[in-house]
Amino acid sequence: MPKWKNVFVTGGAGYIGSHCIVELLEAGYDVIAVDNFANSVNDNGEAISLKKVEQITGKPVAFYQCDLLDKPKLEEVFSKHEIDCVIHFAAIKAVGESMQFPFMYYKNNLIGTINLLEVMQAHGCQQLVFSSSCTVYGNPEHLPITETHPTGNITNVYGRTKFFIEEMLKDVSAADKSWNIISLRYFNPVGAHPSGDIGEDPTKPFTNLMPYIAQVAIGNKPYLTIFGGDYETTDGTGIRDYIHVMDLASGHVAALKALQNEHLRLKVYNLGTGEGCSVLQLIKKFEEVTKTKVPYKIEDRRIGDIVSMYANANLAKEELGWQAKCTVEEMCKDFWRWKIKNPNGYKTDAVKQVANG
Ligand code: NAD
Ligand code: WQD
Repeated sequence: MPKWKNVFVTGGAGYIGSHCIVELLEAGYDVIAVDNFANSVNDNGEAISLKKVEQITGKPVAFYQCDLLDKPKLEEVFSKHEIDCVIHFAAIKAVGESMQFPFMYYKNNLIGTINLLEVMQAHGCQQLVFSSSCTVYGNPEHLPITETHPTGNITNVYGRTKFFIEEMLKDVSAADKSWNIISLRYFNPVGAHPSGDIGEDPTKPFTNLMPYIAQVAIGNKPYLTIFGGDYETTDGTGIRDYIHVMDLASGHVAALKALQNEHLRLKVYNLGTGEGCSVLQLIKKFEEVTKTKVPYKIEDRRIGDIVSMYANANLAKEELGWQAKCTVEEMCKDFWRWKIKNPNGYKTDAVKQVANG
């Protein structure tokens, strides 16, 4: 049984949050989750993903519809529970949208985080795991990327919100030694829970590769556009470090345990596999594993795209005792299981009910 019991999870109805909650419940924690449904589906204020999580684990999740920008409401929810630690997933994350609406992104991600930190401090709860991103590294100066790689040379607003939050965390932990924080820099999360009952179902339009491949494979799009086939990589296409969302979830449990065991002040870890995979390699693997066809056309490079990005994840292995286990095959297989079980995402059941009268 964990020493800490109650974990407060922001953005819990979202993709990574919901998968992480499964791992937390299975590790024996109780979860209090909040979300404002900016990018997750709900049924009359209930988080559908979290209802599924309850079915998978057989354990309850205390859920509140709450916007981190609504500080009085956040304070009210926080006061109802004895919170031991917080995992902060809530953020908006669409790179293109962030360039169009910078105020919206800075307000949501930065003010939302400030509100959360202030409420935590007021309650004497200063243990935090923060969702950061490999995006803070900008265009890599060396590969694989270690945590000591410079940060901040970022070309988009979303990425800068993550960078500024990391800088703010440095300042708050320097000012008040009670803070005990781990910032996790995720590489490219993909896949779904092996049950196929929870997965990625954003309400905002997505642009990421794996969901796009699945849309083509299932027949909703005629082909995939590959953004650039003339990069200086093995096959000319972009390289990323894809990591199974369940591995990412276990990384959070490992981070919580590390915070429990030692007062770390502020530490940063990469969560990746350490392996690069090209766009063409991912498509091929997906086709093999799912026995589908993913037609594609190679077109122009996407503006601002990074050629190659993969992690050195040794620090998390050495200090958190965590390491990614799942293969690219498992990432494809699990994502596809979720997709074919839920072709319309979480709304499938509701749509079926309407169709059946
Ligand atoms: P997601 O959009 O599925 O989940 C985020 C959740 O936060 C959503 O359910 C959304 O409704 C909620 N939210 C947003 N603003 C909120 C607010 N003001 N108040 C309350 N809830 C709010 O995204 P995800 O992929 O699960 O990402 C989780 C975290 O991981 C984010 O911080 C994201 O920036 C970070 N991250 C994601 C990736 C990725 O590729 N998915 C990579 C690196 C880092
Ligand atoms: C992966 C590869 C594309 C779509 C995003 C965010 C970043 C971070 C990680 C949160 C690239 C290629 C893609 C398509 C393609 N997220 N591609 N056709 O670029 O690593 O970054 O996720 O913090 O902030 O920007 O991920 O999935 O968009 O692209 O050819 O239709 O697939 O060019 O090489 P990326 P991605």
